[in-house]
Amino acid sequence: MDHFNYRDGVLFAEDVSVADIARAVGTPVYIYSTATLKRHFQLFDDALAGMPHLVCFAVKANSNVAVLKTLGDLGAGMDVVSVGEYLRAKAAGVPGERIVFSGIGKTREEIRTTLLGGIRQFNVESEPELQAISDIASELGLIAPVAVRVNPDVDAHTHAKIATGKSENKFGIPISRAQAVYAFAASLPGIQVVGIDVHIGSQLTDLAPFRAAYQKVAELTEVLRAEGHTISRLDLGGGLGIPYRRDNSAPPLPSEYGAMVRETLGHLDVEIEIEPGRLIAGNAGLLVSRVIYVKEGEDRRFLIVDAAMNDLIRPAMYEAHHDIIPVDESLAPSTVYDVVGPVCETGDTFARGRAMAPLNAGELVAFRSAGAYGAVMASEYNSRPLVPEVLVNGDQFAVIRPRPSYEEMIARDTIPAWL
Ligand code: LLP
Repeated sequence: MDHFNYRDGVLFAEDVSVADIARAVGTPVYIYSTATLKRHFQLFDDALAGMPHLVCFAVKANSNVAVLKTLGDLGAGMDVVSVGEYLRAKAAGVPGERIVFSGIGKTREEIRTTLLGGIRQFNVESEPELQAISDIASELGLIAPVAVRVNPDVDAHTHAKIATGKSENKFGIPISRAQAVYAFAASLPGIQVVGIDVHIGSQLTDLAPFRAAYQKVAELTEVLRAEGHTISRLDLGGGLGIPYRRDNSAPPLPSEYGAMVRETLGHLDVEIEIEPGRLIAGNAGLLVSRVIYVKEGEDRRFLIVDAAMNDLIRPAMYEAHHDIIPVDESLAPSTVYDVVGPVCETGDTFARGRAMAPLNAGELVAFRSAGAYGAVMASEYNSRPLVPEVLVNGDQFAVIRPRPSYEEMIARDTIPAWL
């Protein structure tokens, strides 16, 4: 459920008309709903009720500081994968003890900065990384809390580019080597083992792969405890999928996911951490765009809109489907379009053969499910300024990242003295 609904045929974000925002801020523009963000966080928090837990928002999904603060103020933790994300979480007021640091390539500088700034735990993906964290922590006179990310070798049944839990993927250490790696971790002076971490992929629409992975983690917990390691936290990663289409069967709900977590891990007396990104932010955001032209091709009709692949890359990169709806809900979807952006590549196509209401130049459309992996993956390709972001809260809205002017965009380049 989200908070983007038609009222008398006009699309609203909570209590604000989407067309009013588009008029005030221009297009393309991302619009996020505070109520939806909060609701989705709450669903996960409730789903794990009764077990000690921390819901850590995966900052990579949407890293706007206002979005992070909206969630952080509710008590959310943050899962970060770079010092940039860490500093954003800090800027949103989230304390280090609620921030976990994931990722296979943490640099020494990133480890140092986050250790000094305060960190809940490093999710470590290799022995060289364990060694580096221990060395830096020792230099600083600190002890680094660590969970080792294990790769359970399960098939997440999702798009190949976002599956992470098979042995051929670059992530984690093979679960078969976990005992040796934990023994190594325990031997290092700057490391304190606190738990186990696992993340098998994104946009999972079935609980079975999660269940298979978590069962392996449960077994490993017992084995490692028997060997004397303290396993007081299990970080279960993110990955629960969202409905991208209104018309098909929805993925499992957070409550169902929570019940499965309780079943597989509830007996272990551990604190559960989860790292959802897409489910919290995805359907809390729209990308609103204006039709520039309707172009009649030889056998296709192109709806040319002012958003492009640089603003929302998911269709070009993963063949992802986003529902595209008119901002003025008028007629039935009787016209078939290829929805394309202005960028000079055929890949700049949002949808092919999509049945939509008849649209004219100047009218607005909204891409649904664009709140996660939308603005964060935007670029300035074709020298298109980065798309702005707006946050709605009830009947108010605020620009939470303005559109840079062309002057600002160009002024970042500098001309060397020899030119
Ligand atoms: N934790 C870790 C360690 C991750 O690598 C990810 C996502 C998450 C949590 C959050 O997963 P989520 O709950 O959002 O599924 N750009 C792609 C998605 C990449 C996901 C990468 N890792 C897309 O647009 O579909």
